[in-house]
Amino acid sequence: MSGAEPEKVVCVTGASGFIASWLVNLLLQRGYTVNATVRDPNDRKKTEHLQALDGANERLHLFKAELLEEGSFDSVVEGCIGVFHTASPCYFACFCCKFLSNKIINL
Ligand SMILES: NC(=O)c1ccc[n+]([C@@H]2O[C@H](COP(=O)([O-])OP(=O)(O)OC[C@H]3O[C@@H](n4cnc5c(N)ncnc54)[C@H](OP(=O)(O)O)[C@@H]3O)[C@@H](O)[C@H]2O)c1
Repeated sequence: MSGAEPEKVVCVTGASGFIASWLVNLLLQRGYTVNATVRDPNDRKKTEHLQALDGANERLHLFKAELLEEGSFDSVVEGCIGVFHTASPCYFACFCCKFLSNKIINL
């Protein structure tokens, strides 16, 4: 029997985000290879903290993927043993925020 463990590949979507960045860190620490999706892999402001993580040089792979493009994630999740789907659009204005702030202001 060979002693080498098979590579464990997982996908983290929205990898530059708050929760995903911690996930990527923990997964790299635990020896996983991480297929990480961002909308713009060339945007260093969003990716340099990921590339600085221990293990990133060897086991972090950045991919471009966009939720609004059908099939965008297909090739990234191919062959992964798990997917952490955290990518989500963030809207700062919504009905309930407006409702709550009106309520608070009108108290
Ligand atoms: N933070 C919390 O305390 C908390 C608590 C409970 C639940 N959650 C949920 O957990 C999820 C992640 O939260 P978060 O705080 O980590 O959010 P976040 O920091 O805003 O990260 C979300 C990521 O989603 C990506 N994204 C946005 N629109 C996209 C699109 N159209 N296509 C592909 N990627 C897109 C962005 O990536 P790019 O950089 O590539 O643009 C962004 O980095 C959300 O669903 C949130 O509701 C968060």
